[in-house]
Amino acid sequence: LILTQDELKKIAAYKAVEFVESNMVLGLGTGSTAKHAIDRIGELLKQGKLTNIIGIPTSTKTHEQALSLNIPLSDIDTHPVLDLAIDGADEVDPDMNLVKGRGGSLLREKMIEGCCKKFVVIVDESKLVDYVGGSGLALPVEVVPFCWKFTANKLEELFCDAGCVAKLRINADGNKNAPYVTDNGNYIIDLYFKKDIGDLKAAGDAMLRFAGVVEHGMFIDMATTLIVASEMGVTVRHK
Ligand code: A5P
Repeated sequence: LILTQDELKKIAAYKAVEFVESNMVLGLGTGSTAKHAIDRIGELLKQGKLTNIIGIPTSTKTHEQALSLNIPLSDIDTHPVLDLAIDGADEVDPDMNLVKGRGGSLLREKMIEGCCKKFVVIVDESKLVDYVGGSGLALPVEVVPFCWKFTANKLEELFCDAGCVAKLRINADGNKNAPYVTDNGNYIIDLYFKKDIGDLKAAGDAMLRFAGVVEHGMFIDMATTLIVASEMGVTVRHK
């Protein structure tokens, strides 16, 4: 039995939707794993197995998907407390700290997922790392476009001991020379490390002290439940 990565993502997503009950205000994540969860929620609503759900989308992309599935939507201005949020992650460390933002939606994700009573993270086992940065993938940081090079240099200097390289994210589609622009009109600086950055909270706080930094992609101590799908099956861990 060989399952594709996408099938594993779907298994984790469907498992998470088992935690969804009627009358919940739900945070809807962004990315290829969360997409499966949202599809499933739409299906259960259509079948009448779930009723009176309010979805809070974490990106314009998720907003569009949820609209197409007729999931009633709102925002945290109107619903500042969420019952549950479901989202994927780029990395999950042994303490259930996350790196998010490869899809560029880290700011809205952090605002919304910081408001929920339960935050269920859904991943295939490839996302598990020994430490943040351990996958060799970037730590995304959302910055204001104004003098982004200045901010990128500051970030590189801050993490020079960890061999940090800061790169402006470029649009994947269309004009290859144009910066990637977030839903909030900002840029993303991707930080690559050669070594462990150590104390995550201290690293995060230091980044936020730069005026040009809007938010970073480390979600420290936010996940309450982790669902991991692998060839061996699906595991659920609560914090
Ligand atoms: C979006 O900005 C990200 O935080 C995603 O939640 C994360 O990249 C996971 O995406 P996949 O499920 O597509 O791997």
